[in-house]
Amino acid sequence: MTTRVSLTRYLVEKERTTGHIPAQLRLLLEVVARACKGISHAVNKGALGGVLGTAGSENVQGEVQKKLDIISNDVLIEANEWGGHLAALASEEMDSIHLIPSRYPQGEYLLLFDPLDGSSNIDVNVSIGTIFSVLKKPEGHPGVQEADFLQPGSQQVAAGYCVYGPQTTLVLTVGDGVAAFTLDREQGSFVLTQEDIRIPEDTKEFAINMSNQRHWDTPVRRYIDECLQGKDGPRGKDFSMRWIASMVADVHRILTRGGIFLYPWDKREPEKPGKLRLLYEANPMAWLVEQAGGAATNGRERILGIQPSKLHERVSVVLGSKNEVERVTQYHTAQG
Ligand code: AHG
Ligand code: MN
Ligand code: MN
Repeated sequence: MTTRVSLTRYLVEKERTTGHIPAQLRLLLEVVARACKGISHAVNKGALGGVLGTAGSENVQGEVQKKLDIISNDVLIEANEWGGHLAALASEEMDSIHLIPSRYPQGEYLLLFDPLDGSSNIDVNVSIGTIFSVLKKPEGHPGVQEADFLQPGSQQVAAGYCVYGPQTTLVLTVGDGVAAFTLDREQGSFVLTQEDIRIPEDTKEFAINMSNQRHWDTPVRRYIDECLQGKDGPRGKDFSMRWIASMVADVHRILTRGGIFLYPWDKREPEKPGKLRLLYEANPMAWLVEQAGGAATNGRERILGIQPSKLHERVSVVLGSKNEVERVTQYHTAQG
């Protein structure tokens, strides 16, 4: 019989070989995985569980919250706050950081998440997900402040996502490659199904919301225009396009078979650097992609090197197959 490696076993064995996963971090990752199982369960119930539709509220970014945005946020907080592994949490769906109540012990980690990514896909039964990032609370002062969360993505100690699609799959890095775990619903556990995931360096597949084309800056227009010219253009090959409108599902495809994902700055809201959130979406995805041999920039610099200046900061995102990301980045730097 082939051995099935559970998430717990994977984490225990990784700690033995790399020393990257102390007990508190393992507990944290297992608790996040358990929360994702709960969210997956709610997602699967759909209309039968009364989880579809809007909640009638807005988040700090002015986006209408869906019922599942709030349910997923609550599941992640309730699962995590009592365990003693966290100092505080931050979420795309909460205005400010969430401190661990004083009745529970305080831990040394900070957990950041996009509880439900791809909200516009919930009601239409298309893949959605949860994205998370783990930082260490800086030492040297008691308590936790918002400033403690403002660390560049290069400081992450773990990052991952769970995609709720035809299968529920958890994808994780602790800085030693990327591994994927598929949820076995009968057993109720995540089972290792892929290790050392690698993104091909070249691709013929791009992901961007083409409806924003007229708002893009010149380097992005140039790149996509060259892709669209296919065999007859300077790239000399035909490209295909995918856009799921769930970053988690688009990134999962790229980790599986390569590709490039762009959500660039555009002229609709010129004062905002982009749509996606640096701390909850771009940083964890950038680290996963880099760990799988891909690249991630904001068009000019490495996403993981950006020093955040506020919790809900936004950023342009270009990530995926290394050679394509480097090409887009070159087009930006050539522009000056
Ligand atoms: P969220 O549901 O967490 O707000 O994130 C949605 C994001 C991302 O998942 C996706 O790539 C992008 O928004 C889609 O945006 P458009 O609807 O503008 O295409
Ligand atoms: Mn999102
Ligand atoms: Mn979200």
